[in-house]
Amino acid sequence: MSVAFLLNGTPVRVAGEAPTRTLLEFLREDRGLSGTKEGCNEGDCGACTVMVTDAEGSRALNACILFLPQLHGKAVRTVEGIAGPSGEMHPVQAAMVSQHGSQCGFCTPGFVVSMAVAHLNGDRVHDDALAGNLCRCTGYAPIVRAAEVAAGEPVPEWMRTDRAAVAAFAAGEAGAFRPEGSDELAEWYLAHPEAVLVAGATDVGLWVTKQLRELAPVAFLGGVKDLQAIEVQGGQLHVGTGVTIAALREAVKERIPSFGEMLRRFASAQVRNAATIGGNIANGSPIGDGPPALIALGATLHLRRGDEMRSIPLEDFFLEYRKQDRRTGEFVAGVSFPEQAPALRCYKVSKRFDQDISAVCGCFNVTVEGGVATAARIAFGGMAGVPKRALAAEAALLGMAWSEATVEAAAAAMAGDFTPLSDMRASAGYRMLTAQNLLRRYFHELNGVGVSVLEVLP
Ligand SMILES: Cc1cc2nc3c(=O)[nH]c(=O)nc-3n(C[C@H](O)[C@H](O)[C@H](O)COP(=O)(O)OP(=O)(O)OC[C@H]3O[C@@H](n4cnc5c(N)ncnc54)[C@H](O)[C@@H]3O)c2cc1C
Ligand code: FES
Ligand code: FES
Repeated sequence: MSVAFLLNGTPVRVAGEAPTRTLLEFLREDRGLSGTKEGCNEGDCGACTVMVTDAEGSRALNACILFLPQLHGKAVRTVEGIAGPSGEMHPVQAAMVSQHGSQCGFCTPGFVVSMAVAHLNGDRVHDDALAGNLCRCTGYAPIVRAAEVAAGEPVPEWMRTDRAAVAAFAAGEAGAFRPEGSDELAEWYLAHPEAVLVAGATDVGLWVTKQLRELAPVAFLGGVKDLQAIEVQGGQLHVGTGVTIAALREAVKERIPSFGEMLRRFASAQVRNAATIGGNIANGSPIGDGPPALIALGATLHLRRGDEMRSIPLEDFFLEYRKQDRRTGEFVAGVSFPEQAPALRCYKVSKRFDQDISAVCGCFNVTVEGGVATAARIAFGGMAGVPKRALAAEAALLGMAWSEATVEAAAAAMAGDFTPLSDMRASAGYRMLTAQNLLRRYFHELNGVGVSVLEVLP
């Protein structure tokens, strides 16, 4: 492996490392940049947050689940590079001091980097920007106050230098397999079907840091630009496999607001900035948040093997627990779905509001015409070994008056759709009752009753 990137403004080339060496290990062990902390080593706590800049802009990412080849040609800024060249504090650092935003200080570098990125990007929704940073002692109020105070200060010049530096940086060839187009990827993957495809590494990263797996060969999809586009055509959104959850959220938040709102609660800013929709589908998780929404939207999945393309309804991709309809050497190319869906509502139920995996995720898309349900697509995560449609509940709605009685009949029918499991997130009984209650919630929401936990007052 040989990759080159800018580290706090200085070019570095790393060669001879395993392609799955993480940026966090490299910073702390090889560079002595120990301001970047290791807390959970699985993307959950934000102690390892760094700023990564490429031609598209700057974003916060978790260094613990970022492999070095993912950085090729980019610029990394750690907490050591947030202060000015003469040691002057960044406004977020000064505000953390003045607002008493730090006690033991372990989480502080991660918060400072997340805050500095949000400050640079003009992001004023501090709760969202900081949802991926965990503080065990200070409490969040002083930290959010610090972000508010810093928001009134201009962006220091030194924070703007990375973008121009990246444009001028000649990184050269990556010595890790980093295809630059889908044709190159298709040809290589057909010849190396045993390879692990790495998109954002927010799942694969944990195979390395938690399961201590050695992965080879590996292909990094971050450079496959033609699979990172979002296009609107004939009323459909075509989303490339490499589109991040953050970019997807931007694309749908006005068009399909409920989907956008659910994606706001997908992990944290750091994870959404890395995680791709293709990875979310391809991993086949029964508790992924993307698939239930996309199935309820009637999405079509596009797969490619060599020169062959095929398209299938997304729900047909998920065969059984962790088994997908994907042939040897075939990869996910993208997904298409209607660009408008006024009746779609997505409800994510998790133990914590932010940065948590769903216990149950229910997505509902029922068309009501003249008081009658004329079309229905209902899909759940967390209710079976795969993301799955509630076909019996849908059948109980179709052609029936859109009424409380019909919804009760559909809720009862749902008991035949699923045999959920009990696990650390929820019991089987809780899951079933929640799924049924989400249908009731949907009925009330479509009828104009406020049901959001953020809107309902005691
Ligand atoms: C802290 C944390 C919180 C999380 N919270 C959530 C959450 O709230 N909701 C949720 O749904 N998920 C969550 N996840 C899981 C994860 O972020 C998502 O599943 C994400 O979308 C995976 O995308 P990725 O690009 O990182 O995939 P990767 O980790 O790169 O890959 C995942 C899998 O997909 C395969 N793959 C990737 N791209 C392709 C392709 N084009 N074709 C074929 N196979 C491919 C890989 O080989 C691998 O098997 C969380 C993860 C972490 C670490
Ligand atoms: S160490 Fe916790 S997110 Fe990286
Ligand atoms: S200041 Fe101690 S964890 Fe945040």
